[in-house]
Amino acid sequence: MFDLSGRVALVTGGGQNVGEGIAAALARQGASVAVNDLVEERAAQAAERIAQAGGKAAPAVFDVTDVAAVSRGVAAAEAALGPIDILVNNAGVPAGMATLPFRETDEAHWHRYIDLNLYGVIHCAKAVVDGMCERGFGRVVTISSGAGQTGLPIGVASYGAGTGGGLAFMRHLAIELAGTGVTANSISLGLMESAAGGGQPEVAEALARTVPVGRMGTPDDAAAAVVWLVSDEAGWVTGQTIGVNGGSLTS
Ligand SMILES: NC(=O)c1ccc[n+]([C@@H]2O[C@H](COP(=O)([O-])OP(=O)(O)OC[C@H]3O[C@@H](n4cnc5c(N)ncnc54)[C@H](O)[C@@H]3O)[C@@H](O)[C@H]2O)c1
Repeated sequence: MFDLSGRVALVTGGGQNVGEGIAAALARQGASVAVNDLVEERAAQAAERIAQAGGKAAPAVFDVTDVAAVSRGVAAAEAALGPIDILVNNAGVPAGMATLPFRETDEAHWHRYIDLNLYGVIHCAKAVVDGMCERGFGRVVTISSGAGQTGLPIGVASYGAGTGGGLAFMRHLAIELAGTGVTANSISLGLMESAAGGGQPEVAEALARTVPVGRMGTPDDAAAAVVWLVSDEAGWVTGQTIGVNGGSLTS
């Protein structure tokens, strides 16, 4: 099950942490993977690690918030690896992400999160869905957050607005594309190891205790759900938001 041989995937923000784990898992299942990142070195190193493990990958350096750059970057990735069958919108954390109460935020702050989590998703979807529909197969998965589904007292209103907008967009995309062979789903992540604790083990342990299953998430937790959603076997799953969060948010 879940054989991705012959498929070509694009993973945005795939240069580290969750995105790198997803890119590596897709490659292990047989897909060729375009590893996007804003940071050239990260994309190159993640692609190199996939190649060293026996997979096929190429770096794809572009900014998902720049619609023209996305168009050029997708064209270059397709020239290198072939038409994109699988898009994973993972880029969602801007450099130097800071939590701030809404009353202390300004227009630049709102744009950083909404441009990345809503427009980034729209730009990348626009660049690939026509080809997917023409070929009769496609998978779009957006990595989102519980912050897009529920109110939180931790200063993430703009991030929540962007991720929530991305979730709403994905539901409509799913319905518009239903019947073409293209599915569109989202994964709502909970607290991940990569973000938690700021390098302080006691803070990380305290945060882990707030997750019902008693631990934070890993890139492999996210990647397993992506592998399933992008497989042939998940062709009847579309328009869904799947919680991968250790029970932090139930549905
Ligand atoms: N870390 C968590 O606790 C957590 C929780 C819930 C949801 N998520 C979601 O998981 C995803 C990955 O999170 P992470 O913690 O691995 O993030 P991360 O910050 O470790 O990695 C994100 C990568 O995206 C790249 N990136 C940022 N802006 C970009 C842009 N404009 N264009 C292309 N690449 C860009 C960065 O350079 C970085 O390499 C995000 O969508 C995030 O919203 C994370």
